[in-house]
Amino acid sequence: MNHNDHVRLLQNGVPHSGGVWADLGAGEGAFTLALAELIGPVGGVIYAVDRDGRALQALAKQMRRSFPQITLYTIQADFTRLLSLPPLDGVVMANSLHFVVQKEPVLQQVKEYLQEGDGRLLIVEYNSDQGNHWVPYPFSYQTWRKLAQQTGFSHTEQLATYPSRFLHEIYAAASW
Ligand SMILES: C[S@@+](CC[C@H](N)C(=O)[O-])C[C@H]1O[C@@H](n2cnc3c(N)ncnc32)[C@H](O)[C@@H]1O
Repeated sequence: MNHNDHVRLLQNGVPHSGGVWADLGAGEGAFTLALAELIGPVGGVIYAVDRDGRALQALAKQMRRSFPQITLYTIQADFTRLLSLPPLDGVVMANSLHFVVQKEPVLQQVKEYLQEGDGRLLIVEYNSDQGNHWVPYPFSYQTWRKLAQQTGFSHTEQLATYPSRFLHEIYAAASW
């Protein structure tokens, strides 16, 4: 997958440019950079959260190079704990929630970070309910629909998919 593939996965879930977003479990920022492109033309603010400080440094360097108009704040933290974030237009969680066993409390917390009304959560995950050593607790799109509803999100829709030799397929989904 390259940057354009990452952009394609997210693009129908990003309704307008600008705004304040967070990427929880951003890593080196494959999807943070895609988000930057999508909200980017007029600038925008992204909070990138990860417990891996080295990955966040790499992301910050690439963001300065590729999308200098974006204001990026990096937060080295555990996203399963309460984070100090402003009201957000959107949250991206790409390949990060599959590390969490108890997803409901994390999702309840994420909901609190979002602006009431049209604040949205974009999920990127493997379309599988069978974990392995690298992807311990994945959830298929069908499972995500149920989980999203149970945790108070609505309007869940699949945005795009991408074939993957590893665990079949990747999907992106949006919930409000
Ligand atoms: C597979 S990588 C995905 C990175 C990026 N989102 C992507 O899709 O390319 C998972 C990232 O989530 C981070 N992560 C997993 N659990 C976390 C947690 N509880 N708190 C903060 N970061 C976490 C890891 O450090 C890692 O950088």
